Parts: sequence; structure tokens; C-alpha cells
Amino acid sequence: MTKVLFVCLGNICRSPTAEGVFRAMVTRAGLTHAIQAESAGTSASHAGERADRRTVRHASQRGYDLSAHVARQVRDEDFAAFDLILAMDAQNFAVLQERCPAEHAKKVRLFLDYGMRGGPREVPDPYTGGHHGFERVLDLVEEASFGLLEHLRRRAAS
Ligand code: 4NP
Repeated sequence: MTKVLFVCLGNICRSPTAEGVFRAMVTRAGLTHAIQAESAGTSASHAGERADRRTVRHASQRGYDLSAHVARQVRDEDFAAFDLILAMDAQNFAVLQERCPAEHAKKVRLFLDYGMRGGPREVPDPYTGGHHGFERVLDLVEEASFGLLEHLRRRAAS
């Protein structure tokens, strides 16, 4: 079993989107027995809340159901429990690196490392922007989720 944790700041926009999109791809690929995904935020400020309603609506328009999501903060146990801990941007990557015990340091990566080669390295925070920000999150997340699934398949086959 490979366990992936997606991490953003609030766990109400970007990382729940990544969790929902990646899970849908894993399900379509028939790999739910082999790959699990969750998400969390580096901040506790939205813990216990549902995903942002704009995030839920835009995801739903592409067929992803984020309605059951409940936000939570990253926990110390996550660094041992997950195999990959993928940050949406450099700020959250730095927070994770700071918190991560040295023995698990290799698990912490930027999610868009699995995205298009030469493409952006960060998923921009859509919280204070307009609708296009949420579409942009979905575009980047779909691309990188595909790359991540391919990476895990190659690793499993080797
Ligand atoms: P997320 O988006 O990190 O993608 O969940 C944000 C949600 C809330 C805030 C910032 C970003 N906030 O400042 O409250």
C-alpha cells in the first residue's frame, strides 16, 4: 500500500482538490487496493470545515465529488504514516520540511514535481481570487495527478 498526503495551507481548496482528483484516477485505474490518498493543511485555521464551496462547485463541474471533505491540520504522525507528502507550494513545502523528522525527509516533495516538465512548480492559492483561479487549480492538479499515478505505476513495476 502506498499512502499519499496532499498538503496546502487551509485544506479547504487545493489539497482537497488534489485528494479528490487523484482518488478518482486511482479508482478508474482499479488501484484502490494499492494506493490511498488524504489531504491536510499546515494551518489549523479551517480545521473541521467543509471544503470551500467554490472549490466544491468547480470540482463538481468536472465530475469530482468533494462534498464529504472535512479539513484537518497536518499531524506529527503523518510523517511516519504516509509514503509521500506533497506540498502545493513552496511556502507549505518549507513548513513541512521544518516539521518533518530527518528520517522521513525524502517523503516531502512539491506536488508539481509530477506535473508537466518545465511547467509551474506551485499550485497558486485561489482563495482570494476569481473563478479562473479554481479552474487553474483543477488544470494543474489533473496534470500532476496523472504524472504521480504514472510514477507510482512505474515504481510498482520495477
Ligand atoms: P488552500 O486555500 O490552502 O488551498 O486550502 C486557502 C484557504 C484559506 C486561506 C488561504 C488559502 N486563508 O487564508 O484563510
